[in-house]
Amino acid sequence: MLVFGTRPEAIKMAPLIHALKAEPDNFELKVCVTSQHREMLDQVLKIFNIKPDIDLNLMKKDQNLLNLTSLILDEMGKVLKEYKPEMVLVHGDTTTTLATSIAAFYLSIPVGHIEAGLRTYNLNAPFPEEFNRQITGKITKLHFTPTVLGQKNLLTEGIKKSSIIVTGNTVIDAVHWILKRIDSDEHRQKNINDFLNIILLFDWKNENFVLVTAHRRENFGNGFIEICSALKQLALKYPKIHFVYPVHPNPNVIKIVYETLQEINNIHLIKPLEYEPFVYLLKKSYIVLTDSGGIQEEAPSLSKPVLVMRDTTERPEAVEAGTVEIVGTNHQQIINGISRLLEDNKHYQTMSRAHNPYGDGLACKRIIDVLRTI
Ligand code: UD1
Ligand code: UDP
Repeated sequence: MLVFGTRPEAIKMAPLIHALKAEPDNFELKVCVTSQHREMLDQVLKIFNIKPDIDLNLMKKDQNLLNLTSLILDEMGKVLKEYKPEMVLVHGDTTTTLATSIAAFYLSIPVGHIEAGLRTYNLNAPFPEEFNRQITGKITKLHFTPTVLGQKNLLTEGIKKSSIIVTGNTVIDAVHWILKRIDSDEHRQKNINDFLNIILLFDWKNENFVLVTAHRRENFGNGFIEICSALKQLALKYPKIHFVYPVHPNPNVIKIVYETLQEINNIHLIKPLEYEPFVYLLKKSYIVLTDSGGIQEEAPSLSKPVLVMRDTTERPEAVEAGTVEIVGTNHQQIINGISRLLEDNKHYQTMSRAHNPYGDGLACKRIIDVLRTI
């Protein structure tokens, strides 16, 4: 049984679902969604044409970690007792990941962890994701880690080498899948272009724009005040540069972002995009400014410089390669980071080299090769 609940988990599990379903003689797959996210999860299910076998439909507006965790634990317990899967596959570090792993552990069902081994070793950053993935790692039987660094982290924690498989990140499988589909279908391209022409009120195909996303819990409050202040000052400083910002629907995000930024001409606040137009826009963007995990993995493979609005990252591979820079959430540091990329062409060229430490698009194949043997 494969279990997930949020947008990024869905994107990264989607290619694995298709790969498992392609082998019905080897795998009997059940897909269970907690629906920790609702609209953003549904967007991904639609794009990848996935119909879950079980949908717990748990999202509540402005949910908190306590009620969400206990709800998932309880409901997943019931599902696991009913279906009795031979193995549960979870992904990454969300509340769905943590609570599903605990439920499986209590019922003695083995857990396979996709995107295992990412660490900052700071339980407060990202919060609560670092805790979630460390606890999941304690329970996991098979650790599918994207990189050699992930493997090293797990080995340092005393995990047996034989239970760790370095696979690459399935997000690269997902990006390849989406880009191939867009590139091979002119009608689809036209639809995406028409849609973006309607929601973006500037010449986004020819003018430079910065693609912005932000949602991390540890940035709520002061972090978002700083981020919004930086965006406002940058938009005034560079009136010819556009800022395209699909705003996460979390009330802690949406309120301050719209209150602070909605009147500024070259800032374009839009709803979360479906994965297809988002990847299309990512490809067209000039710079990426984000606190997202997944975008740190996708953007370098598309040769985009990424500035990360966090104090630390569990994905240091692209930082070491020079395509990702940590700028934190101090408004001046964000302004300095963007200004340097806009004004120093040599620096821009250095950061916009294609770099792909997160995979070759064959992560799902490597995962399935192992699952077939158990
Ligand atoms: C969650 C994950 C985070 C991941 C992020 C991806 C945890 C603790 N956090 O954070 O690791 O990076 O998803 O986006 O698991 N909402 C909607 N519609 C949606 C989705 C969210 O309205 O489709 C709103 C709801 O009010 C919801 C709130 O956002 O209560 C928070 O959602 P939640 O999943 O708890 O937290 P995220 O910040 O999305
Ligand atoms: N994404 C998307 N539409 C958007 C913004 C992001 O499809 O409007 C995708 C993005 O390409 C990446 C994933 O969502 O694959 C990242 O999700 P998010 O930043 O919410 O979560 P994180 O990766 O930080 O856990």
